[in-house]
Amino acid sequence: MSGHSTYQPQSAFMKWMEARLPIASLIHSSFVSYPTPRNLNYWWTFGGILSLMLGAQILTGIVLVMHYVPQETMAFNSVEHIMRDVNYGWLLRYLHSNGASMFFVAVYIHMFRGMYYGSYKEPREVLWILGVIIYLLMMATGFLGYTLPWGQMSFWGATVITNFFSAIPLVGEAVVTWLWGGFAVGNPTLQRFFSLHYLLPFVIAGVVLLHVWALHVVGQNNPTGIEPKSSKDTVPFTPYATVKDGFFMVVFMIVFAWFVFYTPNYLGHADNYIPANPAVTPAHIVPEWYYLPFYAILRAVPDKLLGVIALFASILILMFLPWLDTSKVKSARYRPLFRQFFWIFVAVCLGLGWLGAKPAEGGYVIAARILTIYYFAHFLIILPLLGFIEKTKPLPNSIEESVLGHGAAAPKKA
Ligand code: HEM
Repeated sequence: MSGHSTYQPQSAFMKWMEARLPIASLIHSSFVSYPTPRNLNYWWTFGGILSLMLGAQILTGIVLVMHYVPQETMAFNSVEHIMRDVNYGWLLRYLHSNGASMFFVAVYIHMFRGMYYGSYKEPREVLWILGVIIYLLMMATGFLGYTLPWGQMSFWGATVITNFFSAIPLVGEAVVTWLWGGFAVGNPTLQRFFSLHYLLPFVIAGVVLLHVWALHVVGQNNPTGIEPKSSKDTVPFTPYATVKDGFFMVVFMIVFAWFVFYTPNYLGHADNYIPANPAVTPAHIVPEWYYLPFYAILRAVPDKLLGVIALFASILILMFLPWLDTSKVKSARYRPLFRQFFWIFVAVCLGLGWLGAKPAEGGYVIAARILTIYYFAHFLIILPLLGFIEKTKPLPNSIEESVLGHGAAAPKKA
């Protein structure tokens, strides 16, 4: 799966085991002796943070399920019971709900890191596409989970999002009825959403295994975007990467803890503390913050079907990124023009996120239309053209040279 294994079993038991199931040498070659580029910065710690967060979400989720009741008349009260009566139930719930937000913070940083340093380019295309699949699964899981407390936003969010499918010509209405398990969002909807919300994180875990496998086949990219050529360009994963990742995980956990202990409802919506009521529509139906840019794109398009298509296209277009970006140079460090467009793109995504939370009227809609056009132009016009017109900066000869300067010994042939 990965680097050369230098693992030597010490005890008689480990020798016996090694001959039957060499799991210790697999772990050793993947996470101890595995050669990692010597110049990785803290942006390369988010994959590890994401793995940790996935584990934390699964763990807190499993304990929450011991007290939660996925039933229309009891779901809301069972969550209140968790908050008030279950020992440390409030902590479990706040860890899980804020954990979802932190998971998305980490995944967005992880994805933008990949875009900045060109980590999606050859030979990491499959690794990137697996990432986009994980992201889609995460979006689905978050949406399903938000329905479970059965508050007003749960109910109306589920109603609005599932209604998108009614835009499909001819079969739209039938598809929505099938998704709901009835003629409106109700008990069958809640039960199937609960079942799928429990299932998907394990599917994500499976795709993460493929993601990390693909990573270990092609090796990590690095801030220079040039591949390691000699052993001087790399250091062993342990202790170098493990200590760096461990340190930054602690920093990340402090931010996470700050939300959980000081402002646990900041990222939520007050209306979700009102039990679901099909007879009363909230004034503004707003999705969770991590969906807002896509919500803005959906509402920017005047036609319902085209809006839904634009929404899905805005995510699926990421899968084609390795081929839409025509530049041979990976890292934005050596691409002065791309670097500027990258930051404009980040600003456009933040702008769309801000607009997604505003009412869909007047100047907000016009601004969302302009930013939506720019979003697609970034992928379909700017990135393909930049590869041809941009004058890139000279690349260092090796990773070692980029770290130690020109005094570094010339790299040996690998
Ligand atoms: C549960 C979610 C995810 C987990 C647990 C995860 C895990 C990891 C890990 C452990 C690494 C290596 C360390 C690092 O580069 O930080 C990595 C690298 C990478 N991931 Fe992810 N990932 C996730 C989601 C994604 C998503 C959504 C994308 C893109 C759409 C993505 C794209 C990549 C790429 C391109 C690399 C290689 C980076 C490089 O070497 O420069 N990942 N991932």
